[in-house]
Amino acid sequence: MSPPALISISGLSHSYGEGSLAKQVLHNINIDFYPGEIAIIMGPSGGGKTTLLSLAGALRSVQSGSIRLDGAELRNAGSRMLTRVRRKIGFVFQAHNLVESLTICENVQIALTVDPSATAQSSRRRALELLTRVGLAEHAHKRPRELSGGQKQRVAIARALVRSPQVIMADEPTAALDRASGREVVELLRHLAREMRCAVLLVTHDNRILDVADRILSLEDGYIEESNLALDRLVDDFAALVDHLSLYPERFPSPEQLAGLSVEFSKGLNALLPRLADMVARRQPDALATRSQRWAASADDIRNLEESLLQIPKAVAGSSPAGGEDLCDSAVQSLDFLLRTAAAALRSRAPRDAASLVTLTLHHSNAQQDIRARFEDQHERSTEEFRNATLDLISLYFRCVYFLHHIASRLKEDITAAPAQAAPG
Ligand SMILES: Nc1ncnc2c1ncn2[C@@H]1O[C@H](COP(=O)(O)OP(=O)(O)OP(=O)(O)O)[C@@H](O)[C@H]1O
Ligand SMILES: [Mg+2]
Repeated sequence: MSPPALISISGLSHSYGEGSLAKQVLHNINIDFYPGEIAIIMGPSGGGKTTLLSLAGALRSVQSGSIRLDGAELRNAGSRMLTRVRRKIGFVFQAHNLVESLTICENVQIALTVDPSATAQSSRRRALELLTRVGLAEHAHKRPRELSGGQKQRVAIARALVRSPQVIMADEPTAALDRASGREVVELLRHLAREMRCAVLLVTHDNRILDVADRILSLEDGYIEESNLALDRLVDDFAALVDHLSLYPERFPSPEQLAGLSVEFSKGLNALLPRLADMVARRQPDALATRSQRWAASADDIRNLEESLLQIPKAVAGSSPAGGEDLCDSAVQSLDFLLRTAAAALRSRAPRDAASLVTLTLHHSNAQQDIRARFEDQHERSTEEFRNATLDLISLYFRCVYFLHHIASRLKEDITAAPAQAAPG
């Protein structure tokens, strides 16, 4: 799930000018970017955003520190290597730089001229494909002046994407656009980034589009800082999941309620678990990449949750659910409790919260065999279908607990290793 960083920046500083006139504009920047993630870089004018982007985009040479892009070190790199790196990047700028004398389609095709394997026909086909993706296929034959600002920016995006870049770097792509078209442009960037698994580095002053970001960085006087937003969002998602669980009625629910709950629950878990694994892994990408993959696989298992839950009401209709009610209720209640504790521990990063989550989840994990055995005893006479469905539920529940236990252990280690670090990144 979480591969190594696509762009890894460490100890990066940069100055303009020479000798006594030198002005340092970036100070010891350390940051990594990952495939599929959208990072928004904000900050006051002159803070160094464009400088950072041009260094990471191999458009300017690295003076001190290191930038690795897809494994290639940019510091002291030769011009052939820099050209190769630049081809992995799609650039989108505020001024969309379209060529007026060419059609929209030709403007996109330009980006393919460096590719020796592209023929006129294949590049036209590819350009039209991208224009279709950005919703402009029917404008392909027009000139840039016949398009609106937002449409032109979408052409610039198509051009940036036509070579399937690994990274998109966008410097204020919405600055010249009204609210609605600005929104459209970033939504499109997000959609394409997810689909094509590229990283997006988006510089903007526009705080109406912050919600599309996975991460928000601020660059002020050459110092970079990451906001807690991603973590906060995760905690909110946890809370939302907990809200769904608290809708669970006190009594054994009707089949309809159960079905509704299970859909929401598994949707929530499915969205949450890989992201959690991803986020935790990003704090120490190398050591955690493998574990993260395993977690993502267990999220796949949990995808079966929905199905298993849906079987229960059917089974219940044909048997007496006494005892099963209690079991389901207590499983859901304790998961609710664990999720709350996990959300609190993630929020506080207090050693004590993390430690208590470790203990709690371990305890719940150990209880699995007991609960299974007790249930099997009580339900000797239930229908086999009912027993199986409930046992499925129990094991799904414990998969969640098991997962939370990993998160907790990881969090605890992390806090112990870096007590002063308040946020990921
Ligand atoms: N080519 C250059 N030569 C000298 N100084 C430069 C050059 N480019 C930028 N600077 C200076 O470096 C600092 C950072 O500039 P940069 O363009 O990176 O800021 P920015 O965050 O992109 O600002 P804005 O939001 O206004 O685009 C500024 O003080 C700027 O004056
Ligand atoms: Mg700038």
